[in-house]
Amino acid sequence: MAYEVRGVVARGKGAPVGVETILVPDPGPGEAVVDVQACGVCHTDLHYREGGINDEFPFLLGHEAAGLVSAVGEGVTNVAVGDFVILNWRAVCGQCRACLRGKPQYCFATHNATQKMTLADGTELSPALGIGAFVEKTLVHSGQCTKVDPAAPATAAGLLGCGVMAGVGAAINTGGVGRGDSVAVFGCGGVGDAAIAGSRLAGASTIIAVDLDDRKLEWAKGMGATHTVNSGQTDPVEAIKALTGGFGVDVAIDAVGHPKVFEQAFYARDLAGTVVLVGVPNPTMTIELPLIEVFGRGGALKSSWYGDCLPSRDFPMLIDLYLQGRFDLDAFVSETIGLDDVEAAFEKMHRGEVLRSVVVF
Ligand SMILES: NC(=O)c1ccc[n+]([C@@H]2O[C@H](COP(=O)([O-])OP(=O)(O)OC[C@H]3O[C@@H](n4cnc5c(N)ncnc54)[C@H](O)[C@@H]3O)[C@@H](O)[C@H]2O)c1
Ligand SMILES: [Zn+2]
Ligand SMILES: [Zn+2]
Repeated sequence: MAYEVRGVVARGKGAPVGVETILVPDPGPGEAVVDVQACGVCHTDLHYREGGINDEFPFLLGHEAAGLVSAVGEGVTNVAVGDFVILNWRAVCGQCRACLRGKPQYCFATHNATQKMTLADGTELSPALGIGAFVEKTLVHSGQCTKVDPAAPATAAGLLGCGVMAGVGAAINTGGVGRGDSVAVFGCGGVGDAAIAGSRLAGASTIIAVDLDDRKLEWAKGMGATHTVNSGQTDPVEAIKALTGGFGVDVAIDAVGHPKVFEQAFYARDLAGTVVLVGVPNPTMTIELPLIEVFGRGGALKSSWYGDCLPSRDFPMLIDLYLQGRFDLDAFVSETIGLDDVEAAFEKMHRGEVLRSVVVF
């Protein structure tokens, strides 16, 4: 018998989101139903609402969540009812060419629930990033549940389900930031600040935060930025070079996803440095770079999906660091809100007033 719950749905491009009745089926083989306890509002949810990801409306939004497993389907062994889990959008298959080559963090055939959650009239929903977690109960593949220490509050733990993991991983996993490195992070929202916090954790000695908004730059300092640059007022490439002996940074992270910012990151990098694109561009954006500069500067231009994370490896590790007081997840939580407040949270995000609004149930 299906569960009848409340969830946040985006019906059409640009239209305000609203809370609707959602039908969640009992878990089938390999699936789990999770009682969502907290779900952060990520910019990617807004991209979905704007039609920037695809046109498969209606979307069930929310994907940065933690909660308790409330039912499991046949054959599920990795989690049991009552387990505290973070939901992930990388349930690795173990069989694709990436998995077989020992690189499951790139899995090309990740698992999602087979059954569909629907509106009351039976219309099938597209869950954001294969999760859909602005909802009291959600149906996922059991592999999308990563068990972590229940001592961590859901508001903090859920953030690892997307934005914070994406940012930390962009720095540490994709960018390979290590002790003594210099890093510049463009865009200091939840993702960019996580890249800053991740760089600090990895031992970077110079961490330059770049944003258009002084308030964001102030918060970035609290996350570990050693210097800040307002790129609306100063040329960030020149400023970053001035802060790095005239050379540029070892790792430049674009956490905005805009051609202009990518170009700034490209030129703000030292020879043999790495550019990491973690911000999500829209499908119309293009870049033009002199090929001789791409060649002549050496190094690497990389994209980072979900911080190249492996949830089973990275979530429990980051939760342990959090519980030891070495990684401050609470600092990302600007406010806790109700399910009815997601549209207002998008507006606050747009105005730059929050790092993360987190829906609590
Ligand atoms: N790759 C992934 O796996 C992944 C995962 C989660 C989110 N994302 C993406 O990361 C991006 C950031 O997400 P977020 O939740 O932190 O968003 P956010 O809206 O909270 O933060 C964006 C920040 O960028 C700043 N900004 C905007 N334009 C700028 C510019 N031209 N120069 C400098 N700074 C600028 C804003 O002031 C803001 O502080 C989004 O595109 C989101 O979709 C990617
Ligand atoms: Zn795979
Ligand atoms: Zn996200």
